[in-house]
Amino acid sequence: MTLPGVLLLDAAGPEAGALARAAAARGHRVHAATTAAACSGYGPELKGLLAGHIVTDFARPGRALDEIAAYARRHGVGAVLTVNEYLTELAAYLCAELRVPGNDPGRARAARDKAAMAKAFAAAGVRAPHTVLVRDDAGLRAALTDPQVGFPCVIKPLSGAGSAGVTVVTGPAGVAAAADAARATAGMYDSGADPRVLVQAYAAGTEYSVESLTQDGTTTHLAVTRKQLTDGTTRVETGHSLPVHLPPAMEANVYREAAAAIRAAGIRHGASHTEVIVDTDGRCTVIEIGARLAAGQIGVLIQHALGLDIWTALLDAALARPAALAPTAHRYATVRFITSDRAGRLTSVCGFPTTGPGVPFVRWRAAIGSLVHEPGANSHRLGSFVVTGTDANEVEERADALVRRVRIHVEPTSPNTGQVRPASTSAIAP
Ligand SMILES: Nc1ncnc2c1ncn2[C@@H]1O[C@H](COP(=O)(O)OP(=O)(O)OP(=O)(O)O)[C@@H](O)[C@H]1O
Ligand SMILES: [Mg+2]
Repeated sequence: MTLPGVLLLDAAGPEAGALARAAAARGHRVHAATTAAACSGYGPELKGLLAGHIVTDFARPGRALDEIAAYARRHGVGAVLTVNEYLTELAAYLCAELRVPGNDPGRARAARDKAAMAKAFAAAGVRAPHTVLVRDDAGLRAALTDPQVGFPCVIKPLSGAGSAGVTVVTGPAGVAAAADAARATAGMYDSGADPRVLVQAYAAGTEYSVESLTQDGTTTHLAVTRKQLTDGTTRVETGHSLPVHLPPAMEANVYREAAAAIRAAGIRHGASHTEVIVDTDGRCTVIEIGARLAAGQIGVLIQHALGLDIWTALLDAALARPAALAPTAHRYATVRFITSDRAGRLTSVCGFPTTGPGVPFVRWRAAIGSLVHEPGANSHRLGSFVVTGTDANEVEERADALVRRVRIHVEPTSPNTGQVRPASTSAIAP
């Protein structure tokens, strides 16, 4: 019997690579829909796994849909997956077009465009920050006088990701720069900056995410993840830890809001990542939802802490086969992201861990000589590593100790020329 083909929308990155490996190991022919630029960066292992690919332009989703659907029909594709946040809506439309298991295309925008998300959450009664869509400066001034917003508030782009262009604004002085940052942040396949921004009430509390897998409309919450973030006006993730065991009433509350968000975003077959903030009274506010497995090595954490083959589970969900989701391990896992505390040229790195017992994953991605940034978005991460173990506190302590050993040297560059200035500095990654 010929197994259905599996199509990945954008096969770049470690998560897509893991999916491709899982599908190929099961005997599926794996295909990729990709842009010309992304395709040229595919490494030999991925190329060896792919039975074929189609080059398309994701910036023109209507045309991409037609082209990919025609390709998928020719190649007997029976499952479509993506781990690229920007392609989840296209994936839903493609699944509907091909009549393969997928999310509701009519609702899929809600997991991609934060204005649509706020509307869908409000309509479905999901507890979420009050959100005002602002089109110009007059709208911005009006939003800031809205009693449901106030200061602090959050100004963010509609279709960004990775925390780019998101600012926590504590008073009127920070508004103009925050709005400019949000307007200047275009989504991965957007043609240009968007003059519209969102102004959102600030939700105070502790930030978590809920990692879930929905199969034929039934959701299993796999884990709650605690997020470690920078403080201040930009909130950039510095680490994730899972599983977090919340008090039962709080956990029930968090799962209820996550499930409501999953329904509101039309997620029927596949992973989701719901970001929430829980305040001191246990109230849970949903910040956003993604119709995909979480990025930032959360898949690796699930694999090592819970003993789940998350990649095969995602494949099963996309094929509408029952996925094995019962944990086979009861461990803890955490990831740390290494960033530079200053902008400049990276001249050396030492002390970055290697894989070994309790450190199953390391990834360094910044080349020596490349320009690095102060942490303003997730794309400014230089590297990451995962620590696992049987005791949650020991895992955190070990990860923190490993972070302290990492030393990076960054030469400041002249703001205008990008030339290295003579003074040399050293930085310890946070
Ligand atoms: N309304 C809010 N109240 C409090 N904090 C917020 C709010 N909105 C955003 N944040 C903070 O800013 C971070 C980034 O915001 P958001 O998740 O909306 O952007 P993003 O670009 O989708 O980020 P990512 O892709 O990293 O999840 C959040 O994780 C949170 O720490
Ligand atoms: Mg987020």
